[in-house]
Amino acid sequence: MKTLIFNGSPRVSGDTANLIDLIVSKLQGEIKIVNAYRCDISPCMDCRYCWTNPGCAINDEMQQVYEYIQDCDNILIASPVYFSELTGKTLDVGSRLQTYFCASAFRKEKPIPKVKKGAVILVGGGDGNMEKAFGTACTLLHHMNCRDIHELVSSHNTNSVPAIRDEKTVQGVIDISSFFNDGNAMA
Ligand SMILES: Cc1cc2nc3c(=O)[nH]c(=O)nc-3n(C[C@H](O)[C@H](O)[C@H](O)COP(=O)(O)O)c2cc1C
Repeated sequence: MKTLIFNGSPRVSGDTANLIDLIVSKLQGEIKIVNAYRCDISPCMDCRYCWTNPGCAINDEMQQVYEYIQDCDNILIASPVYFSELTGKTLDVGSRLQTYFCASAFRKEKPIPKVKKGAVILVGGGDGNMEKAFGTACTLLHHMNCRDIHELVSSHNTNSVPAIRDEKTVQGVIDISSFFNDGNAMA
Protein backbone atom coordinates (compact mmCIF):
# COMPACT_ATOMS: atom_id res chain seq x y z
CA MET A 1 0.00 0.00 0.00
CA LYS A 2 1.27 3.46 -0.92
CA THR A 3 0.00 6.74 0.51
CA LEU A 4 0.73 10.21 -0.78
CA ILE A 5 0.36 13.08 1.72
CA PHE A 6 0.28 16.77 0.81
CA ASN A 7 1.27 18.91 3.79
CA GLY A 8 -0.02 22.44 3.20
CA SER A 9 1.41 24.08 6.32
CA PRO A 10 4.56 26.23 6.61
CA ARG A 11 4.93 25.34 10.31
CA VAL A 12 7.39 22.52 10.97
CA SER A 13 5.79 21.40 14.25
CA GLY A 14 2.40 22.99 13.84
CA ASP A 15 -1.11 21.59 13.98
CA THR A 16 -1.06 20.01 10.52
CA ALA A 17 2.41 18.53 11.06
CA ASN A 18 1.36 16.94 14.36
CA LEU A 19 -1.71 15.32 12.78
CA ILE A 20 0.38 14.08 9.86
CA ASP A 21 2.86 12.53 12.34
CA LEU A 22 -0.08 10.77 13.98
CA ILE A 23 -1.46 9.31 10.77
CA VAL A 24 2.02 8.29 9.61
CA SER A 25 2.42 6.32 12.86
CA LYS A 26 -0.81 4.41 12.06
CA LEU A 27 -0.50 3.82 8.31
CA GLN A 28 0.74 0.59 6.78
CA GLY A 29 3.05 0.49 3.77
CA GLU A 30 4.99 3.23 2.02
CA ILE A 31 4.38 6.95 2.51
CA LYS A 32 5.51 9.96 0.49
CA ILE A 33 5.03 13.45 1.91
CA VAL A 34 5.03 16.57 -0.26
CA ASN A 35 5.66 19.70 1.82
CA ALA A 36 4.01 22.51 -0.10
CA TYR A 37 6.22 25.19 1.53
CA ARG A 38 9.52 23.33 1.16
CA CYS A 39 9.30 21.44 -2.11
CA ASP A 40 10.73 22.48 -5.45
CA ILE A 41 7.37 22.68 -7.22
CA SER A 42 6.38 25.76 -9.22
CA PRO A 43 2.77 26.75 -9.89
CA CYS A 44 1.12 26.06 -13.24
CA MET A 45 1.88 28.88 -15.72
CA ASP A 46 -1.00 27.99 -18.06
CA CYS A 47 1.51 27.36 -20.87
CA ARG A 48 -1.02 24.93 -22.37
CA TYR A 49 1.56 22.24 -23.17
CA CYS A 50 -0.84 19.72 -21.62
CA TRP A 51 -3.66 20.75 -23.94
CA THR A 52 -1.94 18.62 -26.58
CA ASN A 53 0.73 16.60 -24.69
CA PRO A 54 0.69 14.23 -21.73
CA GLY A 55 2.53 15.35 -18.60
CA CYS A 56 3.81 18.82 -17.78
CA ALA A 57 6.45 21.04 -19.44
CA ILE A 58 7.83 22.23 -16.08
CA ASN A 59 10.71 19.99 -15.06
CA ASP A 60 10.77 20.07 -11.28
CA GLU A 61 9.97 17.86 -8.28
CA MET A 62 6.36 17.54 -9.44
CA GLN A 63 7.56 15.03 -12.05
CA GLN A 64 8.26 12.53 -9.20
CA VAL A 65 4.92 13.37 -7.63
CA TYR A 66 3.16 12.61 -10.94
CA GLU A 67 4.81 9.16 -10.90
CA TYR A 68 3.73 8.55 -7.33
CA ILE A 69 0.16 9.65 -8.09
CA GLN A 70 -0.03 6.93 -10.75
CA ASP A 71 1.14 4.27 -8.36
CA CYS A 72 -0.38 5.10 -4.97
CA ASP A 73 -3.50 3.74 -3.31
CA ASN A 74 -4.39 6.66 -1.03
CA ILE A 75 -4.04 10.43 -1.11
CA LEU A 76 -4.36 12.77 1.88
CA ILE A 77 -4.51 16.56 1.68
CA ALA A 78 -3.74 18.09 5.10
CA SER A 79 -3.67 21.86 5.41
CA PRO A 80 -4.44 24.84 7.58
CA VAL A 81 -7.19 27.10 6.27
CA TYR A 82 -6.08 30.59 5.30
CA PHE A 83 -8.98 32.97 4.66
CA SER A 84 -11.24 29.89 4.64
CA GLU A 85 -9.26 28.30 1.76
CA LEU A 86 -6.37 25.87 1.40
CA THR A 87 -3.05 27.69 1.84
CA GLY A 88 -1.57 29.45 -1.18
CA LYS A 89 1.31 27.01 -1.56
CA THR A 90 -1.10 24.06 -1.47
CA LEU A 91 -2.98 25.70 -4.32
CA ASP A 92 0.34 26.29 -6.16
CA VAL A 93 1.10 22.56 -6.00
CA GLY A 94 -2.52 21.70 -6.73
CA SER A 95 -2.49 23.87 -9.85
CA ARG A 96 -0.05 21.40 -11.40
CA LEU A 97 -2.88 18.84 -11.46
CA GLN A 98 -4.35 20.84 -14.34
CA THR A 99 -2.57 18.40 -16.66
CA TYR A 100 -5.09 15.73 -15.56
CA PHE A 101 -8.06 17.99 -16.27
CA CYS A 102 -6.66 18.79 -19.73
CA ALA A 103 -6.05 15.10 -20.43
CA SER A 104 -9.71 14.26 -20.05
CA ALA A 105 -11.24 17.56 -21.25
CA PHE A 106 -9.08 18.25 -24.31
CA ARG A 107 -7.12 15.11 -25.22
CA LYS A 108 -9.95 12.72 -24.31
CA GLU A 109 -7.56 10.49 -22.36
CA LYS A 110 -7.87 8.84 -18.96
CA PRO A 111 -4.68 10.12 -17.28
CA ILE A 112 -4.77 8.02 -14.07
CA PRO A 113 -6.16 4.50 -14.61
CA LYS A 114 -5.79 3.43 -10.97
CA VAL A 115 -8.61 4.46 -8.63
CA LYS A 116 -7.60 5.74 -5.18
CA LYS A 117 -9.07 6.56 -1.81
CA GLY A 118 -8.85 10.14 -0.59
CA ALA A 119 -9.11 12.13 2.62
CA VAL A 120 -8.81 15.71 3.84
CA ILE A 121 -7.62 17.06 7.19
CA LEU A 122 -8.07 20.78 7.84
CA VAL A 123 -7.08 22.92 10.81
CA GLY A 124 -8.04 26.49 11.61
CA GLY A 125 -7.81 28.99 14.42
CA GLY A 126 -11.58 29.32 14.61
CA ASP A 127 -12.60 31.94 12.04
CA GLY A 128 -15.06 31.48 9.17
CA ASN A 129 -15.82 27.95 7.93
CA MET A 130 -14.10 25.05 6.23
CA GLU A 131 -16.57 24.34 3.42
CA LYS A 132 -14.72 26.20 0.68
CA ALA A 133 -11.36 24.61 1.56
CA PHE A 134 -12.91 21.15 1.74
CA GLY A 135 -14.60 21.69 -1.63
CA THR A 136 -11.30 22.73 -3.19
CA ALA A 137 -9.47 19.76 -1.66
CA CYS A 138 -12.15 17.39 -3.01
CA THR A 139 -11.73 18.90 -6.49
CA LEU A 140 -7.98 18.22 -6.31
CA LEU A 141 -8.61 14.66 -5.08
CA HIS A 142 -11.06 14.05 -7.93
CA HIS A 143 -8.42 15.24 -10.43
CA MET A 144 -6.15 12.49 -9.00
CA ASN A 145 -8.89 9.87 -9.47
CA CYS A 146 -9.85 9.54 -5.81
CA ARG A 147 -13.40 8.25 -6.01
CA ASP A 148 -13.96 7.20 -2.41
CA ILE A 149 -13.37 10.21 -0.15
CA HIS A 150 -13.54 10.06 3.66
CA GLU A 151 -15.68 12.64 5.46
CA LEU A 152 -13.81 15.80 6.43
CA VAL A 153 -11.69 15.61 9.58
CA SER A 154 -11.02 19.05 11.01
CA SER A 155 -9.98 20.97 14.08
CA HIS A 156 -11.33 24.50 14.00
CA ASN A 157 -10.34 25.94 17.35
CA THR A 158 -6.56 25.77 17.27
CA ASN A 159 -6.16 29.29 18.72
CA SER A 160 -7.37 27.76 22.00
CA VAL A 161 -6.71 24.01 21.69
CA PRO A 162 -3.88 22.54 19.58
CA ALA A 163 -5.28 20.11 16.99
CA ILE A 164 -3.36 17.19 18.47
CA ARG A 165 -5.24 17.72 21.78
CA ASP A 166 -8.63 17.92 20.05
CA GLU A 167 -10.02 14.45 20.85
CA LYS A 168 -12.59 14.39 18.05
CA THR A 169 -9.92 15.33 15.51
CA VAL A 170 -7.47 12.73 16.79
CA GLN A 171 -10.19 10.06 16.50
CA GLY A 172 -10.97 11.30 12.99
CA VAL A 173 -7.32 10.97 11.96
CA ILE A 174 -7.27 7.41 13.34
CA ASP A 175 -10.47 6.70 11.37
CA ILE A 176 -8.78 7.91 8.17
CA SER A 177 -5.84 5.59 8.82
CA SER A 178 -8.25 2.63 9.20
CA PHE A 179 -10.07 3.69 6.02
CA PHE A 180 -6.76 3.75 4.12
CA ASN A 181 -5.41 0.56 5.71
CA ASP A 182 -8.60 -1.37 5.01
CA GLY A 183 -7.64 -3.16 1.77
CA ASN A 184 -6.76 -1.50 -1.49
CA ALA A 185 -8.76 1.02 -3.48
CA MET A 186 -11.47 -0.15 -5.84
CA ALA A 187 -10.03 -1.81 -8.95
C1 LIG B 1 -2.60 34.08 6.65
C2 LIG B 1 -3.46 33.29 7.60
C3 LIG B 1 -4.82 33.17 7.37
C4 LIG B 1 -5.61 32.43 8.24
N1 LIG B 1 -6.96 32.32 7.99
C5 LIG B 1 -7.73 31.58 8.82
C6 LIG B 1 -9.14 31.42 8.57
O1 LIG B 1 -9.70 31.92 7.61
N2 LIG B 1 -9.86 30.67 9.45
C7 LIG B 1 -9.29 30.08 10.55
O2 LIG B 1 -10.00 29.43 11.31
N3 LIG B 1 -7.96 30.20 10.81
C8 LIG B 1 -7.17 30.92 9.96
N4 LIG B 1 -5.82 31.03 10.20
C9 LIG B 1 -5.24 30.31 11.37
C10 LIG B 1 -4.58 28.98 10.99
O3 LIG B 1 -5.41 28.24 10.12
C11 LIG B 1 -4.35 28.17 12.27
O4 LIG B 1 -3.47 28.87 13.13
C12 LIG B 1 -3.83 26.79 12.03
O5 LIG B 1 -4.01 25.99 13.18
C13 LIG B 1 -2.36 26.76 11.63
O6 LIG B 1 -2.03 25.44 11.26
P1 LIG B 1 -0.52 24.90 11.19
O7 LIG B 1 0.02 25.00 12.57
O8 LIG B 1 -0.66 23.51 10.72
O9 LIG B 1 0.19 25.76 10.19
C14 LIG B 1 -5.03 31.79 9.36
C15 LIG B 1 -3.65 31.90 9.58
C16 LIG B 1 -2.86 32.65 8.72
C17 LIG B 1 -1.37 32.74 8.97
